Order: sequence, then C-alpha cells, then structure tokens
Amino acid sequence: MAVFDKKAKYYDAWYESKIGSFADKVETELAFRLFEPKNGMKVLDVGCGTGLFSIKLAGLGCKVTGIDISKQMIDIAKRKAVERNLSIDFYQMDVNELNFEEESFDAVFSMATLEFIENTQKAYNQMYKVLKKDGPLLIGSINKDSKWAKMYMSKTINQNSIFKHANFRSIKDIEDLDRKNVVTSRECLFIPPDTTLDNINMEMEKKMAITESGGFFCVLFRKPE
Ligand SMILES: C[S@@+](CC[C@H](N)C(=O)[O-])C[C@H]1O[C@@H](n2cnc3c(N)ncnc32)[C@H](O)[C@@H]1O
Repeated sequence: MAVFDKKAKYYDAWYESKIGSFADKVETELAFRLFEPKNGMKVLDVGCGTGLFSIKLAGLGCKVTGIDISKQMIDIAKRKAVERNLSIDFYQMDVNELNFEEESFDAVFSMATLEFIENTQKAYNQMYKVLKKDGPLLIGSINKDSKWAKMYMSKTINQNSIFKHANFRSIKDIEDLDRKNVVTSRECLFIPPDTTLDNINMEMEKKMAITESGGFFCVLFRKPE
C-alpha cells in the first residue's frame, strides 16, 4: 500500500488552516511565476496527490494529466475535478515507471513529491524523457536547509507522520539532477513554522526573507531544443 493511501482523506485539511493556506499561496505564486502555465499547454503533474495543482493548472487552460502512486489520492483528485467540471486525466502510476510516449508533454510539473522518492535521479530521468524539447520541468520541494524541514523531521517521532518517509533535499541537491539545464531556482515560505497566527502575512514573509532560508523552493529546468 502506498504511504499516502491512509492519509488521503486528511490531506486537504492542511490547506484549510491559516498557515497551510498561506504556504499554498506563496508556493503556488512562486511555482507559476517560474513555470508560466499557458492556455492549451499539455502538462504532466507528477505526484499530483489530491489534485491541488492539477486543478489550478487546468483552471488556467492547461491540458493536464496527473499521476500518483496512491490510488486513494488519485480517487480524491478525480472526484474534485468532476465537482469542478474540469477534464483532467488522472492515473495511478509510479514516477519511476512513467507509461507515456517519449517527448509527449509540453511541460512537466512536480510539487512536494521528490521528498518521498528515494532515487531522485531515476525519477528525474523519467520526467525528462516524456518532456518535449524546449519544455519546462519544474520541481518544487521542501527545503532541507530550513526550519520547516527541521520541524517535519521532528515529527518523525510520531509514527503516523508521512514525513517519516521523507528525504529532504537542498536546492543544490535538486539542481545537481541536471545542472546544465537549470534555468533558475527560487525560495519562498520564509516565515518559520512556529509563526503566530497574527504574523502569517506577506509583510512578515518579506521581512523574514532577509534572514531566513525559504521553507520551500522551486527549481526550473528546460530541455534543450
Ligand atoms: C506531499 S504529496 C504532494 C501532492 C501534490 N503535488 C500537492 O502539492 O498537493 C506527495 C505525493 O507524492 C506521491 N508519490 C510518492 N511516491 C510516488 C511515486 N513513486 N510515484 C508517484 N507519486 C508518488 C504521494 O502518493 C503523494 O500523493
């Protein structure tokens, strides 16, 4: 059974909390600023989970295919897409064995998933293979070098935490997957995880960016023509 199967029905609750919704906002802003989703773009969302980003990308006019190893996560994603009247193809699939034609997607997108993959190089190579030439490939990840990663690691004492299955990486670790094709890397979520409710806002985010490492980062690669 996939690690996220048992957690699927609770997964979206995080985004309903004040800090979860703030994290989602800054992570989405950063990812989309780099990725530049466009109407009609054929996008593969790897580790789509409950469809958080697949749905946002489809809402922007992208033709989205979402894959995830967890059937329970995929089932929720499918249901949410139907409720929103969005046409998205969801498949239960392992990123390590992507079952698509080579160079069949305009763009590949993956948020908060490589943390749960042991062999990130193998996963990256699979994503790269299905990407068309000149296409963007965006990886978003919790930053190993941040207070957020430390907080999640401390949760590993909790046997029920999904983060006991996580391997956090640094920006450099992800860039090293394909250094020659890195376009840019950026951080966000500078407010630390113990920020008080009153201080969860953009003003504090900007202030903390001066001294803190971002809890999340995105690396944008582009496949050469
Ligand atoms: C933290 S969730 C992120 C979900 C979504 N991208 C988001 O940002 O809300 C990580 C997802 O990666 C999926 N995952 C883990 N290992 C995978 C694999 N080998 N292949 C595909 N998906 C995988 C999990 O099932 C889970 O849904």
